[in-house]
Amino acid sequence: MSSYPFPAGFSWGVATSAQQIEGALREGGRGESIWDRFAATPGRIKDGSNAAVACDHYRRWREDLKLFQWLGVGAYRFSVAWPRVIPSGVGAINPPGLDFYDALVDALVEARIQPFVTLYHWDLPQTLEDRGGWSNRSTVDAFAEYAAAVVKRLGDRVHHWITHNEPWCIATLGYEEGHHAPGYRDPPEALRAAHHVMLSHGRAAEVIRADAPDPEVGIVLNLVPTYPASTDGVDRDAARWFDGFFNRWYLDPIFRAQYPDDAIADRVKRGHLQSSNLPFAKEGDLRTIATPLDFLGVNYYSRVVMRAGEDGSPTAVPMVPEGELTDMGWEVFPEGLYDLLVRLECEYKPPKIYITENGAAYTDPINAAGRVADTRRINYLRGHLAAAHRALADGVPLHGYFVWTLLDNFEWAHGYPKRFGLYDVDFTTQKRTPRDSAFWYHDVIAANAVDDETK
Ligand code: GCO
Repeated sequence: MSSYPFPAGFSWGVATSAQQIEGALREGGRGESIWDRFAATPGRIKDGSNAAVACDHYRRWREDLKLFQWLGVGAYRFSVAWPRVIPSGVGAINPPGLDFYDALVDALVEARIQPFVTLYHWDLPQTLEDRGGWSNRSTVDAFAEYAAAVVKRLGDRVHHWITHNEPWCIATLGYEEGHHAPGYRDPPEALRAAHHVMLSHGRAAEVIRADAPDPEVGIVLNLVPTYPASTDGVDRDAARWFDGFFNRWYLDPIFRAQYPDDAIADRVKRGHLQSSNLPFAKEGDLRTIATPLDFLGVNYYSRVVMRAGEDGSPTAVPMVPEGELTDMGWEVFPEGLYDLLVRLECEYKPPKIYITENGAAYTDPINAAGRVADTRRINYLRGHLAAAHRALADGVPLHGYFVWTLLDNFEWAHGYPKRFGLYDVDFTTQKRTPRDSAFWYHDVIAANAVDDETK
C-alpha cells in the first residue's frame, strides 16, 4: 500500500470555534454576541436552534482535551470569544473569561499540543453591533484593544496567532447577503465592513508583534478556486468576476496593499460603489492591511463553476450534478485544493501556508457495535490530503493541516443537522463517539503519512 509521507515537523491539527462548541453563553461573565442575538431572531436558524448549549465545551473542555490527546494532534486551532473577554466590546475586561482560555492553553502546552488562537471567529459583542459593528470604523480600535488584552494574558505560551477567520463570510454573509449575523443586506455597508475587518487585522498584527515574545501571525481566508463552465469568453468573465468578488477582494489588499481594479469596476457597475475611489479607505489603511504575514491560513471545502447568465450576468453553476456532494451540497473536488495552493504560491507567495480548515458534513449512523462507518468522510479527507501532498511536492510551503472539525457542532444558520465532526455528538446526552475517521486520522498522524487506499 503506497502512501503520501509528509515532512518531519508537519503540524497535524483539528479546528473549532467558540460560538459553535462552548455553550454557556451567559456564564462566567460572558456578554451577548451577534450570533446569540441572530439565533434568538425567529427564522434565522434553519432548525430553530441556538448555541446556548452546543457541545457544552465550556464545561467539558478537559474531557475534550483527552480526545485531542488520543488523536495525537500536535496543534489545536480554537477561537477566543471576544464577549467572554470584554463583554461590552470595549472597556472592562472580564477576568473569568480570560481565565477559561488561560487554563485551556496551560493544559494544551502541558499536553504538548500547540495552541493556534483565532482572535475573531464571528462572535462580535452585540454592544458593538448596536453602534454599527464592522461597518463602523471605531470597531477597528475596539478589536486592537481586545487583541491586546488576549495577547497580554496568553502571549507567553501562544505562538501562533490568527487575527480573523474568513473576512468574506463576516462581510458578505453578515452585511451583504444577510444569511449570517448581523443579517443585513446592504452591499455598500458590506464593503465598509470588509475594509474595517482587514484594517483591524493589520492593527491586531501590530499589537501581537509588540506584545508577544515570539509570535507568528496570520489570517484565515476561505478561498474558492473558480472555473469557467466553458471556454467561452462570457463564462471565463463570469469566473473572473467571482474570483474577484470572493478571493482577490481580500488577497490583493492583504498581499499587495491594493484592491483589484476589475473587482472595483464590477462593484461600480452594480452600484455598490459610486466610483473607483473607495470612500471607506483612508490614507495609510492599505499599508496597515498589508502588514507582512508569517503565514496564510486557508480554509478549503470545494470549488465553484461559473457561467454567464441569460442576461450576461455571472451565475454560479450548481455543483456538478454527477459529482459527489457533501451534506452541505458542496462538490467533493480535491483537485481544487491543489490548484488553489499552487496559485497562492505563484501569485501571492505567502511565507507559509496552513490548511486551517478542511472537512465534510455527512450523516452516518452509529451501528450496533457503537462504530460510525463514515467512509465518505475518510475518502474526502484522504483525497484532499493527497492533493495537499502533491502541492507540497510542487514547492508550496505547506506547514500544517487542520481538520474541520473535532466535534459535531452549531453549524451557524443551519443549526445542528450538518455534522462535520471526527466525533459524533449526541446533543441530548453530550456523548462523544469517535467516527471511523477519527481512528483513520489518528493513524495518519502517527504515521505522518496518508494511505492511498480508497475504502
Ligand atoms: C467556515 C467556518 C466554520 C464552519 C465550517 C463548515 O469556514 O465557515 O470557519 O465555522 O463551521 O467551515 O461550514
